[in-house]
Formats: sequence, C-alpha cells, structure tokens
Amino acid sequence: MTQSDIWQHYDSQQIRSFLFSLEQKYPVSMAQNAYQHLVNFSANQAVPYHQWFKYREGFAGELIRHLLRRSGAQKEEIIVDPFCGSGTTNVVSWLEGYSTLGLDVNPMSAFLTNSKIDHYTSEDLCTAENFLREFAFFRELEWGGKYTELEKYFQPQLFRQLLRIREYLNALPECKGKNILTVAFLAILEDCSDRKRDGNGLRKSPTNIEDAIEYFGQKTCQILKDIQHTVPITGATGYGVYDTAFHLCEQVEDHYSGLPVGAIIFSPPYPNSFDYFESYKLELVLGNFVNSIQEIGALRKKAIRSFVGVEEQQHCDPYIDEIAREIEKVIPLKEKETGKKDARTRKVPDMLRGYFADMRQVLAQCAQSLAAGKRTYIVIDQSAYMGKVVPTDLLLAYLGEQVGFQVGEIMVCKTARTSTQQLIKYPYLKNQLRGSIVELIKK
Ligand SMILES: C[S@@+](CC[C@H](N)C(=O)[O-])C[C@H]1O[C@@H](n2cnc3c(N)ncnc32)[C@H](O)[C@@H]1O
Repeated sequence: MTQSDIWQHYDSQQIRSFLFSLEQKYPVSMAQNAYQHLVNFSANQAVPYHQWFKYREGFAGELIRHLLRRSGAQKEEIIVDPFCGSGTTNVVSWLEGYSTLGLDVNPMSAFLTNSKIDHYTSEDLCTAENFLREFAFFRELEWGGKYTELEKYFQPQLFRQLLRIREYLNALPECKGKNILTVAFLAILEDCSDRKRDGNGLRKSPTNIEDAIEYFGQKTCQILKDIQHTVPITGATGYGVYDTAFHLCEQVEDHYSGLPVGAIIFSPPYPNSFDYFESYKLELVLGNFVNSIQEIGALRKKAIRSFVGVEEQQHCDPYIDEIAREIEKVIPLKEKETGKKDARTRKVPDMLRGYFADMRQVLAQCAQSLAAGKRTYIVIDQSAYMGKVVPTDLLLAYLGEQVGFQVGEIMVCKTARTSTQQLIKYPYLKNQLRGSIVELIKK
C-alpha cells in the first residue's frame, strides 16, 4: 500500500518530497494477514480478563503475544505500556510471566489495569462473593438528586438501581474484594445507559438491559470466574498507575528500580479529535474518580493533545508545522463554500502541532528507558483533515529517529476509516488511510 499518490494533495512540494522520502526510507511491509484482526478490541470480547470491560479503543491480547515474541524480551525484563487503557499489554505480559507497568492519565483506566493484574488470594475472592451476597440486604437509597447531569443518559429505573449499587460500594471497606465489585460496576455502565461509544464519537441508543442489579451480579461472577480459573506464572508483578506517559522513566524507576525494560508496547491516542474523557465521563463520575463533570477538564489537560481545543503550540517540527499550515490554509475556502464558520476544524492544526510535540516527548522517554537493541511497538491509525492525509505512522517513525531509535519496520495491518463527510468531499481518500504497527529499535 504505497501512498505516494495521496501526497499529491499537499500543495507544498517540500511536504510531498518529505513524505515520499519517509515512505522510501522505512521498511513498510504488508502485514494484513497476520494482524488485521488483532489491532482492534473485537477479538477480546469473550476472552478471560479482556472481557471484563469493553474498551473499544483497545487492541487484542493476541497481538501482544505476537509482539512479545517478536521483541525478544526476556522474562527477567519488564514490559511497559505508557498508554495502558484497559491494560491489554499488561494483562498478557503478566499472564506470560513478565513483570509489567502500565500508565494512563485516565484514573479509571489505571484502576482497571491494576485490578486485572493484581494478585488475589482465595480470601479476597470470598470477600467479593460475600459482598455480592450481602448487597441483597442493602437498604434502598433515598434519592438526593445529586447526579442530575447524568440522569439524562439512563432510564429512570436503571439509574436508581445503579445509584443503589454505587452507594453500596461506597459503604464497603477498601480492599481487593471491593475492587472486583467496582470493576463490575464500571463495566456495566455503558450497557445500562442509552449512550454508546461509537467509533470516534458517541451515539444515542436505548439500552436493552432490564435489570442493572442482575447484570451487575452476572458481571461480578464472570470476573470472579476468570480470576479463579487463571493460574498466573509466579514471580511476575504488575502495576497500573495513574500518571502521564511523560513520566515513564520516573515510574519505571519507582516501581522496578534497576530492572531492565524488555519492550514497550502501546497504542497512543490517535490525532483524530477523539476525547477519551468525554467518552468515559459516566465511569469517571459514577466511579468516584472525579467529584463532578467539571473536574474532568483538569484530567483532560494532562492527556496527549489528540483532541480539539488544545492550547496553541509554540514550538513544533518544521515539517509537521507545514502539514498543519496546509490544512489551516484550506479551512477558509471550505467556510466560503458552506457559508458557515467551522470553529472545530479551525482548531485541528494546533491539535496536530501539539499532538506530535507530545508524542516526541513520550518517544524520548521510551528511548531513555531502553537499552540498545530493545524495541518499542506503536499501534496507530493515520488520520485525514480537509482531504490531506496525516501519516501518523511515518511521522512517529520520523520523530522516533530524532530521539534515538532506528526504524525496524512499519507493518501495515488494515485500512483505517475516515469520516463519511470527508469521503463525500474527498472521494480519493477511500481505502487510502492505513493502520500500522511501527517498530522502533533503540540505537
Ligand atoms: C488507544 S487507548 C489505549 C488502549 C490500550 N492499548 C488497550 O488495549 O486497552 C489510549 C490511552 O491513552 C491514554 N492517554 C492519553 N493521554 C495520555 C498521557 N499523556 N499519558 C498516559 N496515557 C494517556 C487514554 O486515556 C487512553 O486510555
């Protein structure tokens, strides 16, 4: 899937030659057969541990198994995911006997990851079972009207049931048994709501759950069963930590001082305007990770700038700045055509500048934490704005080279999607964007 034709849609000869040279320079291979079905979450739906929480932006556990093998990481080395999400990398590494560390700026993700790779004793599991049994005797909640902002996303009866579960969880002592029930509660919120995560956005869709309490019980039992039936290889430890990927080296040192990092495997946010915090706001508020929807804004500030509304980026790589400028240049023409100001797209160029500056910083952290010859794998989709393809895979490889990596391979795994509006306006984009795995090797 060579992309040279697509670069013709950039006016600047300099950008066209730059992108063409990257495409020529890096080993780009077609790996659809091996990876097409592993770079998304669907293969995880009915797999122990991964099935606890439907994390749409996740990748398949099987992919991690492949990449661990490919990386040549040794069992005494640790495996790191600086954007752990639902903890796929960490769960598989841990089950395979590697110690592992995951970071995420979404405290819900850090909690979820940590709960998956925690060691549970049979006492912890008994406690969780007892908590679930005793819930039947928990008194009915007096409706205080505190969550009126969230009420609109649920059927009234289900919302009252969910608040009842939540009040019960709040009353439990902090322990691993409580964590299991909390994961179950977080996991059922989306299904119980009329608000569904959908591709790059959210969609209104009535729930088909009739009884949230029954569903909560089933989910808790599923989690307990997975833990009971898994015998992790002893000796491996795992942590899901609420922190930014910018602190990767510091966190590795804090948790595994002196131990070498065997591989870093992650899928960062894509520069596609997706807002993780809007997407997970029900879980963040009802899971007590924030006190109100307003507090979510503070969390968003710590995230990679992959969404619109970021502050203006002052310093940026000149080629990336040029790509952003080309997009910037076309916006007034589109506005003239439609007669409407497009405030959202106007923010895209700064998002791109911010995104790649942030990712460069994270890649520098990855390089710093790895010894020569060790590998980083990045699972990423390209994006497109105003008919211009932003080749995130090539650009991350290029930035990786700047901070101490050489590019091992760019494995093209699938065709990536763009919005229907873009396809209507720019039909040449059809089947042109790709999702890849970028392999970087520390020099
Ligand atoms: C594509 S998801 C990762 C999914 C993960 N691979 C899985 O299988 O579940 C990207 C994650 O990056 C997190 N994130 C965004 N900015 C971050 C930052 N600065 N540091 C750490 N995590 C961040 C988001 O909260 C999100 O969970």
